[in-house]
Amino acid sequence: MMKRSQVVVKRLIEIVGFVAAIAVAAAGCQQSVVPAPAARSPDVPYDPTPQHVVVEMLELAKVGASDRVYDLGCGDGRIVITAVKQFGARGVCVDIDPQRILESRANAREAGVEQHIEFLTQDLFDSDISDATVVTLFLWPSVNMKLRPKLWRELKPDTRVVSYMHDMQDWTPKETRTVESGNGPKKLFLWIIVGGFKTTAADRVK
Ligand SMILES: C[S@@+](CC[C@H](N)C(=O)[O-])C[C@H]1O[C@@H](n2cnc3c(N)ncnc32)[C@H](O)[C@@H]1O
Repeated sequence: MMKRSQVVVKRLIEIVGFVAAIAVAAAGCQQSVVPAPAARSPDVPYDPTPQHVVVEMLELAKVGASDRVYDLGCGDGRIVITAVKQFGARGVCVDIDPQRILESRANAREAGVEQHIEFLTQDLFDSDISDATVVTLFLWPSVNMKLRPKLWRELKPDTRVVSYMHDMQDWTPKETRTVESGNGPKKLFLWIIVGGFKTTAADRVK
């Protein structure tokens, strides 16, 4: 038979154990939302496109309900989220930084469009983009140039490619637009991939 003081001590030990178990479980949960570090450093640092420019990019590409929009280096997901919410498309967010993909998913959930978007924590140079109908880019000029052969190789004829700020050298754009960025006027570029065999890089867009 335990004394009353022993019973009190035993209860205290049980309560402390229970509280410690909850603290450990909570810490475990927190850890599960801390993203793993990126596989390698991003080629371009995170810098979101202003929201009114996002809308102009999607208008320039004439995005609609039958489109599958890939943002290569998606940041917080705003381009694909807007493509789904305002233009009725579906989309894919690709970013090498797991933190960006966590943010994109959370923003898509908040916007009520998470189920229409795929989220890929991936180097964009490794992504299969062959089912895209629209590709959006806000990268750097050198990265655009490195990406050009992949766009040409993988994208179907008539796929639209839109880039904020940076061109593709001798790929002549189908259309350009000047937008106010909040930091002076900047350009948008639209290219459309052609079909058939072409011999020069410059011939690969129409
Ligand atoms: C300038 S931000 C653009 C973000 C978003 N597209 C927008 O316009 O708001 C570039 C993004 O590309 C991502 N990025 C850079 N290099 C990458 C790579 N090799 N593969 C995938 N994502 C990359 C960065 O993590 C960053 O989020």
